[in-house]
Amino acid sequence: MTYFEKINEIQIKENPIIMGIETSCDETAVAIVKNGREILAEKIISSAPEHAKFGGVVPEIASRMHTTAILSATKEALESANLTLNDIDAFAVTKGAGLLGALLVGVSFAKALAFSCNKPLVPVSHIRGHIAASYIADKELKPPFITILASGGHTAIVAVKDYYNMTVLGSTLDDAVGEAFDKVARVLGLSYPGGPNIERLAKEGKNTIKLPKMLKNYEGGEFDFSYSGLKTAVINYVHNETERGKEINKADVANSFQCSAIDVLVEKALSASKKFGYNTICVSGGVGANGYLREKLASAVKGENIKLVIPEKKYCTDNGAMIGAEGYLQYKKRNFADLDLNARAVVPFETDKF
Ligand code: KG4
Ligand code: ZN
Repeated sequence: MTYFEKINEIQIKENPIIMGIETSCDETAVAIVKNGREILAEKIISSAPEHAKFGGVVPEIASRMHTTAILSATKEALESANLTLNDIDAFAVTKGAGLLGALLVGVSFAKALAFSCNKPLVPVSHIRGHIAASYIADKELKPPFITILASGGHTAIVAVKDYYNMTVLGSTLDDAVGEAFDKVARVLGLSYPGGPNIERLAKEGKNTIKLPKMLKNYEGGEFDFSYSGLKTAVINYVHNETERGKEINKADVANSFQCSAIDVLVEKALSASKKFGYNTICVSGGVGANGYLREKLASAVKGENIKLVIPEKKYCTDNGAMIGAEGYLQYKKRNFADLDLNARAVVPFETDKF
């Protein structure tokens, strides 16, 4: 009997324990999640300090760091949950989107575990994982809901209709919001990752610089975004002021940029929830860790009869628990992979067939 024939005969457990493995970018993350909602253990080893020296993620370094970190991350997660590999019911792994070399480390590792333990290998979309982090944040959360998807690679307003079906109501036409944070940070001389550093600096400044509010009343796609114009406006401002020999108030630039970048996300999420009658708004992706976004959203929904679900900051940025949470949903559907599973740099997340 082949591995896959054996796997296809296993019974689906009511309350499975899933290991979530995430290596799509610069975090080697392993978590053990029960029933898709309860984190039994987790370990995140970040290679961000290595990349900071270069101003952004260096894919080759990320892959090598995953290779050295993944075994200890897994051992530590198992030890802290007081479990062994035999207690794990399925191994969920990010299949994409992400850096190919980095993804392949997690995929190969998960394959080895699944094969040696004779347990299902569950491929997971990274973006769906981000969205599933909200199920951990609020144990009672059930679709439908609107989620603001705001990460380094994606920016969208997504209608999550049920656990498996989602529709992108609008998305960025060019750069992702996190990417804009990272690029603006670089212009301001802040190190990688740019998002948290911009947020820190913005606290010392004011929203005094006039920047474009992108696609505010855009007819083409009501819920679309465009961050490249905003990024260019900031770069031009810094450049022009420098040319004129003027001193730039970096904190004001950071604050003004942050307001422009975030306000539109909040406005469009709120208007999507009203237009389509969704009374829950969730937040997913690394930019969801931004304190200004979290506060702005909280005050925007006041008096609106809209429930807000914002995962803890560490479950907005890349983590293994979100892969375990989405892995649970895919496990329940028996979306298992054979040992020829490959990684993909881009995966469509609107459908769970990828
Ligand atoms: O979701 P994530 O960890 O990885 C991707 O899937 O892309 O998101 C990373 C992005 C980076 O662009 C980073 O600068 C941004 O999220 N980010 C933030 C904050 N923390 C992380 N952006 C704004 N404010 C933050 N506090
Ligand atoms: Zn991510």
